[in-house]
Parts: sequence; structure tokens; C-alpha cells
Amino acid sequence: MTDPALDAEALRERAVASLITARDRTTLLTACVEEPDLTAQHSPLMSPLVWDLAHIGNQEEQWLLRAVAGHEAIRPEIDGLYDAFEHPRAERPGLPLLPPQEARRYAAEVRGRALDVLEGAAFHGSRLTEAGFAFGMIAQHEQQHDETMLITHQLRRGPRVLTAPDPEPVPLFTGPSEVLVPGGPFTMGTSHEPWALDNERPAHRREVAPFRIDTTPVTNAAYQAFIEDGGYDEPRWWTADGWAHIRRGSLTAPLFWHRDGGQWLRRRFGVTEAVPPDEPVLHVCWYEADAYARWAGRRLPTEAEWEKAARHDPAGDRSTRYPWGDADPGPEHANLGQRHLRPAPAGSYPAGESPLGVRQLIGDVWEWTASDFLPYPGFRAFPYKEYSEVFFGPGHKVLRGGSFAVDPVACRGTFRNWDLPVRRQIFSGFRTARSEAV
Ligand code: AVJ
Ligand code: FE
Repeated sequence: MTDPALDAEALRERAVASLITARDRTTLLTACVEEPDLTAQHSPLMSPLVWDLAHIGNQEEQWLLRAVAGHEAIRPEIDGLYDAFEHPRAERPGLPLLPPQEARRYAAEVRGRALDVLEGAAFHGSRLTEAGFAFGMIAQHEQQHDETMLITHQLRRGPRVLTAPDPEPVPLFTGPSEVLVPGGPFTMGTSHEPWALDNERPAHRREVAPFRIDTTPVTNAAYQAFIEDGGYDEPRWWTADGWAHIRRGSLTAPLFWHRDGGQWLRRRFGVTEAVPPDEPVLHVCWYEADAYARWAGRRLPTEAEWEKAARHDPAGDRSTRYPWGDADPGPEHANLGQRHLRPAPAGSYPAGESPLGVRQLIGDVWEWTASDFLPYPGFRAFPYKEYSEVFFGPGHKVLRGGSFAVDPVACRGTFRNWDLPVRRQIFSGFRTARSEAV
């Protein structure tokens, strides 16, 4: 029995394609603005775009050229500049960073050599290159920074520089508003997905009590009802930390929203537009998601509940790679890869629904869960502690499912993202759940 997904030559081709797709995206995101916009800091939350560009090249050099192939460092003196732990984002614009042309040249030189390494690499025998893991990890890393750079574009002031077609309009979703997920154990995480990152491993059984989960992410219209009902003025909907946070920052609506007379407008990649009612809400922090859920008489799903809703196939009692099965994501399944620069309306992508009928779990918006970012039983940091391990703990909340800005290579049913509960410049939304009486 040979699993075609694990065939070395197929994986090698997939690695080449994934690296090229990532670089095309990086190029697009850094070629659409002039040099001053690449070196400027558009928000203290973000790096200058030119930092991301050289950091992408530097990570690729460290893992694919030095660790895998044993090459000497190309420019050993720049490693520290692009080490995310040595320099917090706010201080990066003050560093002697490579100027845009040099950063491009450096990343291109690394890429040329990395493709040569990839051509000759054995895909077995070493943990780092087993099934092409390091190449998949580096393609995912670049795509993660491509999402980060898109966030920087969203924060940037000024006229529109990025365009993309809108998702297909769909009739207003009229199916059931929630779905019952039966109780019982399911398999969470993975030990087999070749490019799954350390925090997704290993596969393990989890007991989940029966619960109901929203069929679609919470929409702007639903969120607006919470605002209009005085949700931001009512402490009982908020945790103590959440209430203190929204008071301190005078938060009254999602990030990028403002009220104009009777209607809500939002700024999206340089354009101001009416907030579309049936689109999943975007740019809310964990505290806002949690407060909305309480107001609605519900709660956020736990991470295990989210994954069971997304992967559990009751027919076969097994966990699939995606809600729709094991096939790689296609445009019919989910809104991924910056194909569109916005979420698709709630109820889109019927071909992407789970066996129980839950929609849009993958793509559109990252979904906040109730859970802290913690290791699975049997977790081992690989290949470096600074990817996941140093972030484990109660400070970070888990987000699942990926947004419209995430590439398929960096998104699957087991993929775990995390952030601080105050963050909302990310492409974050949520859906709600409730326990089923037993
Ligand atoms: C997984 C999105 C939280 O951007 O901080 C990029 C991904 N790690 N470079 C981040 C990451 C190292 C990470 N997140
Ligand atoms: Fe990084």
C-alpha cells in the first residue's frame, strides 16, 4: 500500500511548487509599493515590509542551506538583525536593515541555492528532510509572513495598491443556524501529515461532550446587533480583563470600523466601504468574540470542539485532513491564498462543508477558540523551540481554520495559530457554540 501523498517525488514537486507560490506572493506584496513604503513602519505592531523580506530569506538560508546542506553562512553578520527574538517588532525600523534591493538580491540568492539543495535532497533518513519536511516548513514560513505582510498593507494609510476579484455572491444562507456534534472521543492532531508543524503533533484521542456549533462564522450583521444593543457598555458580557481592555482603549466596534451617521463603514486595503452585513465579522479581538458569545447566550468553542467539528467523520469514526475529506483545498472548498482580499459571505462553499454540515471552517477568517495555546500530550519541539514552545501558556489564545490571507500549504484541519487576546489587526473572526444537555 503506497500512499501517493507520501511519495517522495510527488512531495518534491509539491515543495518546489509551494516555494515558488510563496515567492510569487512575497514579490507581489513588496513590488506594489515604492521604497519608502517598504522601509517605513506602518504600525508599531508590525515590521517594515523590508524586514519580512530579508527575514524570509534568512530563515530559508538557516534551515535549507545551513542545517540541511551544511553550507557556510552567506552573510553571518545579518543573522541577528533578522532574529525575531533579538529585536521586537517596534524597534526593527531603527536597525541597519538591508535596503530593499539588497534584501531582494539576498532572498533570491538563497532561493537559487535552496532549489538546488531540494533537487538532490534525500527525503528519508533524517528527521529534518523526512518527506521534505524542512522544505514544507520553509514554504509555510514564507506564506505566514505573506499573511503578516498583508496585515501590514491593511494597516498602511494611503490609497489602494492591491486589488483582487470579490468572492462569488451567494444567496443569503437560510440553512440551520447550528449543528449538533455528537459526544464521544475523536482523534485530535496528527502524526502522519508530512508537513504538519510540531504543535499539531502527535495524534491523540480526546473525549468531547456533545455540543452545538454555529453553521457559519458570526456575521457583521449579527455583530452589529450586539453593538446596537449596547454590548460595549455592558460589563456583564465581558471578562474582567476584557472590560478593562475595552475601557482603556475606548473600543466600540471592530478595528477599521467607524460610524457615519446611521451606518457603519470600514476601511479595507485603502478603500472605505459600507460594512457588508452577511460577511463574517473580521478584526475582532478574543475579548470581543468572547463578550459577543456571552451576550448571545452562548460561548466560544474549545479548540478540541472546533477540531472535532472540522475533522470528525461520524461515518468512519476517523479524522479527515479537512472538513470536506482528505483532498487538498481547491477554490470550490474554501477562500484561501489571497485570491480574494476579503471573507466570502456566510454560507459560501457548500462543497467545503463538514460531514455534519458546518461551513467555512477553513479559510475566510481565523476563528478564535476558548482555549489557551498548550502542547498536546507527547509534544516535542521540532526543529526549534521558538516556533511553538516558547509561546505555550495562558497568555495566548488559539485561533483555527485560516483566513482568506493564508495559503493552502499553511492551513489544514490540524493547523494551530495563536495570539494575544487583545490582538485584532489579524484577520480574526469567530463562531459560537453551546453545550448540549445530556
Ligand atoms: C504562527 C502566526 C503566530 O507570525 O508569529 C512566523 C508564525 N513564526 N515566523 C507568527 C511565525 C515565525 C507565527 N504565528
Ligand atoms: Fe518568521
